[in-house]
Amino acid sequence: MKPLSKILIEKETSFKPVWIMRQAGRYLPEFREIRKKNTNFINLCLNDDLSSQITLQPLKRFDLDAAIIFSDILMLPYGLSQKVEFEKNFGPKLGELDLNKITKVDEIDFVEKVHRVYKAIKKVSEDSCMSNKNTIGFVGAPWTILVYMINQQSPKNKLKKNFFSDEFLINRLLLIIEKFLKIHIKNQIDNGANVIQIFDSWAGLLEEKDLPRFIYAPTLNLVNYTKSLNVPVICFPREIKNYKEFCDIIKPDAVSIDYNVDPKKILRDIKIPVQGGLDPKILLTDKETLKKEASKYLNIFKDHPYIFNLGHGVLPETDPNMFDYLIKTVKNY
Ligand code: CP3
Repeated sequence: MKPLSKILIEKETSFKPVWIMRQAGRYLPEFREIRKKNTNFINLCLNDDLSSQITLQPLKRFDLDAAIIFSDILMLPYGLSQKVEFEKNFGPKLGELDLNKITKVDEIDFVEKVHRVYKAIKKVSEDSCMSNKNTIGFVGAPWTILVYMINQQSPKNKLKKNFFSDEFLINRLLLIIEKFLKIHIKNQIDNGANVIQIFDSWAGLLEEKDLPRFIYAPTLNLVNYTKSLNVPVICFPREIKNYKEFCDIIKPDAVSIDYNVDPKKILRDIKIPVQGGLDPKILLTDKETLKKEASKYLNIFKDHPYIFNLGHGVLPETDPNMFDYLIKTVKNY
């Protein structure tokens, strides 16, 4: 059985596999080299030769236990015909939301637009270096996708003023998003993904009263769907106030924690496997601090099924030598 599967399925505690969110990205000079020549980010994700190569770049350098496919959660609105662009020093910029147009998109249209993501997954999972490693497919959670589609850009700390004003739009969109996320998950699995991670990057923006409608109900549907395909699923409800309640309701195979939550509290409250937690900014300090902080997580979760990772993506300004030191620290623990 592959390393992450041992934790997720067998609840193994004797070793701690490691992968890192955004492990294929701008902190690597070999990625920046390719990116420089490919200025359109969506087109780069849809170039299965390059995106499979980028996915494997960190595995050539570091002793990681999994590859996460080089793509983006915003492939979903893109596949639904909403314009998606990435502007330097700004982030994602989405086009006008046209519900009539989106309603007309069917499964064939969607798959035609994004199928090269699936081709890339197939290439990655069949690569010789992947024989004892997991291939992670992913989607954004329905709430986070809804946020981008309506807000048309990262909300940073707050949503558009009239974000919740159109009930009809929100209800229709949530159903459409859920339908196509299932299609996206299924195709990733059919092409070799053997773990699915659901990124709910903006879970922390919601008040408690809104969690059942926007997080619990739609995420539970996706988790149960993924489980029905016999693939384990990791949820990352970033900055949600109550991880315990989330896990009790959703019951994912593992929960990925952010860096603001106390790992000791998580250990006390949560029985399922845990992933992540270390603040990505620690990689910008020095080796001594890095070792101390990484060991803190490894010590706390010593007797718990645990996958080492950060509490959010690795920062572009990270020194690859520090990244290397982190992976070695985890492996030698
Ligand atoms: O290595 C990996 O983790 C796999 C690839 C991956 C990317 N995006 C590539 C990417 C994954 C898993 C994502 C998920 C993603 N995308 C999330 C959820 C995780 C999180 O960060 O909270 C979100 C919210 C997005 C949307 C998105 N994509 C934003 C906000 C940005 C801009 C921010 C930034 O870092 O520039 C992106 C662009 C993006 N996605 C890049 C990469 C490597 C940077 C593109 C570049 O080279 O300019």
